[in-house]
Amino acid sequence: MTPAPGFPVVGMIGGGQLARMTQEAALALGVSLRILAAGPTESAARGGGDIRWGAHDDPEAVAAFAQGCDVVTFDHEHVPAPILVALVDAGLTVRPGPAALAHAQDKVHMRTAISAAGVPCPAWAVVSTPEDVVAFAGANSWPVVLKVSRGGYDGRGVWVVDGPEDAASVMSGNPLAPGVEWLVEQYVPFTRELAAQVARSPSGQAAVYPVVRTVQTDGICTEVVAPCPGLTDEHALAAQQVALRIAEALDVVGMLAVELFDTPDGVLVNELAMRPHNSGHWTIEGAVTSQFENHLRAVLDLPLGSPAARAPYTVMVNVLGGEHPDMYRAYRHVMARDPGLKVHMYGKDVRPGRKIGHVTVSGDDLESLLARAHHAADYLTGVIDE
Ligand SMILES: Nc1ncnc2c1ncn2[C@@H]1O[C@H](COP(=O)(O)OP(=O)(O)O)[C@@H](O)[C@H]1O
Ligand SMILES: [Mg+2]
Repeated sequence: MTPAPGFPVVGMIGGGQLARMTQEAALALGVSLRILAAGPTESAARGGGDIRWGAHDDPEAVAAFAQGCDVVTFDHEHVPAPILVALVDAGLTVRPGPAALAHAQDKVHMRTAISAAGVPCPAWAVVSTPEDVVAFAGANSWPVVLKVSRGGYDGRGVWVVDGPEDAASVMSGNPLAPGVEWLVEQYVPFTRELAAQVARSPSGQAAVYPVVRTVQTDGICTEVVAPCPGLTDEHALAAQQVALRIAEALDVVGMLAVELFDTPDGVLVNELAMRPHNSGHWTIEGAVTSQFENHLRAVLDLPLGSPAARAPYTVMVNVLGGEHPDMYRAYRHVMARDPGLKVHMYGKDVRPGRKIGHVTVSGDDLESLLARAHHAADYLTGVIDE
């Protein structure tokens, strides 16, 4: 694969759907994206392009992959820090850098840093025994939320715990891997979940996207509405300011997604992602500049594109794997029924509950946008057949 003369090579570690959608943006910009994928059935590998094979936690594979890249960035965050530090020591450019990325890899590290920066978040503590959890609940209230500090995703590694027996059974049933801790948090009875995304470049330019409403079902993001309907200007501004503050305080480069809880008393930070994020898939059609393009612009230290919305509302609904392995079967019906709807499929093998695609639709009547997007997703998944 020979990059176009004069154009940079961006290396992305991880071959999931985020790398695949970043590849689309890279093609449009004429920038070469080199992707480190673990195997040929991964989403980005099926998308083609400059795919190199190797595991994200194999120091030699990552080092060989990074050689010749102008900048190295991430499709997923779980690349061990020592591997990234070795790249930096070898003179390579890694964005976001390992020190920033640590806050997206480790929820205790993140809570410690944002609490020190005065950013509002749920009450939390590091615990090691069920008795510690009981003491925390005594100082706050039941239920509480137990989380593993590292390695969780899509709700795996998160348990709502209702009492001492529950705490004991979660902790004994899920032995921690080395280097992982238990984090306990106050259960937040939020009115809704929000996400605020910022693109930030090494020169310090930042672009903040409209605040979106996210819906999590069994811990997995299923629906996003941009902008969040009914959010007060005060809370929207607070969420955007928190995201900008975190991006600067933690020296994030690239896309930062801040997941938040909206409550009557204000917004609280749940967690951070330092890469393109599911809450920003709506930006492909719904914003002037997609999160994938702005991630590339940011890590290349190019001026950022406008994050402004193109329509009053954009709705994104995830397509999760269901009982039917054949997604293409549904295309004729979905496309005939709704020519204004956009279908994205990630080229992944179907497994129940797995994120395999999403649909997006924009317009001004939110109720009908939601109905159209959910109909399409349910039809693709096989939940409904008419
Ligand atoms: N402190 C909390 N209070 C209430 N719900 C929570 C809390 N923490 C997490 N949740 C719920 O669990 C989901 C997943 O938790 P999160 O920490 O974001 O883990 P993951 O890394 O799997 O996304 C959240 O989106 C939210 O719905
Ligand atoms: Mg989350």
